[in-house]
Amino acid sequence: QKPVRIAPSILSADFAKLGEEVRAVDEAGADWIHVDVMDGHFVPNITIGPDVVKALRPHSDKVFDVHLMIAPVDPYIDAFAGAGADIITVHAEAGAHTHRTLQRVKQAGCKTGVSLNPATSESIIDYLYEDLDLILVMSVNPGFGGQSFIDGQLRKIAAIRKRIDTLGLDIDLEVDGGVNAETAPQVIAAGADVLVAGSATFKGGPSAYAENIRRLKG
Ligand code: DX5
Ligand code: ZN
Repeated sequence: QKPVRIAPSILSADFAKLGEEVRAVDEAGADWIHVDVMDGHFVPNITIGPDVVKALRPHSDKVFDVHLMIAPVDPYIDAFAGAGADIITVHAEAGAHTHRTLQRVKQAGCKTGVSLNPATSESIIDYLYEDLDLILVMSVNPGFGGQSFIDGQLRKIAAIRKRIDTLGLDIDLEVDGGVNAETAPQVIAAGADVLVAGSATFKGGPSAYAENIRRLKG
């Protein structure tokens, strides 16, 4: 297991000053910048598209971890890659041909990620491990920040950690939703090495970000 990295979700940032917010969390010690893209179809909310990712790119050199909660996803991969995404994560539930989608992400020059909703079994990705740089376990139903962590996802995280280690592959295991200073230790103990945190990072405003991120690392 690698050192724990923190990926603030900018969904909880002040959208009227996103550039400043990205710079603030970068300077406060964020390892990655987590960008939540929602389409009002795959999930019941709408956020931002590739033009916003492109506008944010000059504000940080950190890894842009782009979480696509959209369906269909294939037509938008090149746009997010061109906008400066480093990792593109797609949902296993977003289409019938996740393997093909991951090849498109690779062809676009990005690292590949796959995400699982709380109701989805880890068995759905059993034949994808060799094609993955990252697995993202949703510990809330995607769509909104500030929801409560679903405890039942801990055994999914542990099962995936075991599989990654058994196969001996270099895959990051990321967890998203309801991660805060109280739930982070359990998530880390279950085997995650990247924590997404929206409300837990951005609460209290810019002067609190460094301390908020430090507390998540435990
Ligand atoms: C949920 C998003 C998350 C969310 C996390 O749909 O994918 O990234 O913003 O927010 P918190 O950390 O507040 O649960
Ligand atoms: Zn997310």
